Amino acid sequence: MSNENKSKNIIMNEEEQSLLLNHDYDGIEEFDYPLPSWWVGTFIGGVVFAAFYILYYSFAGGPSLQDEYNHKMAEVNKVREEQSKLVGKFQPDQYQAWIVNKDADEKALEVYEENCLSCHEEKGKGDIGPNLTDKYWKNLKKADAEEIYQFIIVGNEDAGMPAWGDVLSKEELFAAVKYVISIKNTNVPGKEAEGEVIE
Ligand code: HEC
Repeated sequence: MSNENKSKNIIMNEEEQSLLLNHDYDGIEEFDYPLPSWWVGTFIGGVVFAAFYILYYSFAGGPSLQDEYNHKMAEVNKVREEQSKLVGKFQPDQYQAWIVNKDADEKALEVYEENCLSCHEEKGKGDIGPNLTDKYWKNLKKADAEEIYQFIIVGNEDAGMPAWGDVLSKEELFAAVKYVISIKNTNVPGKEAEGEVIE
């Protein structure tokens, strides 16, 4: 049966007639609707974009993933450096002013529990890290606020003590120092003494 013959039995408007494809599968016919323009537009846009993308990244020296990573890491390192310059120098006045604020004790405990407890244990009695409550110190000569502050910033990574200068803010470092000072010479039984006596 030809299209014309069929079309006689089905009510079709003129547009539909013109869209009817010239084939017939066991009586099933189909229209040839054009794809929606948004779809065609997106498709062509995608092809054009891909062409430029491949040209730029594969042939025209566009940055590789590694380049982008290096670039971002350079930025991160710059920020870190600036931060450690900021926290690097111990300012006794700032420290003294900070430790008398009303939330200082709470903050000190909080910072200790979040960052130090895992190695130095409850009340500083020591486990992976040394007992911080005896008068023996491995890394320090005076064990005053300034020296503790400087040590926490750089740590001793080879021996398992992380560097906190890039991790904690200045306030958090003050809090950690305050906590360490507060448990100094409390002689909590725990890890055996290491290092030299500092009276
Ligand atoms: C991953 C385990 C670990 C964490 C977490 C850790 N420490 Fe340590 N810490 C150590 C080890 C190990 C040492 C001993 C390093 C050495 O032998 O020189 C140490 C040493 C120290 C010392 C010097 C002790 C001495 O006798 O010289 C201080 C002070 C200290 N840590 C404070 C802190 C503070 C404050 C925090 C939290 C901000 C902290 N530590 C978090 C493992 C840790």
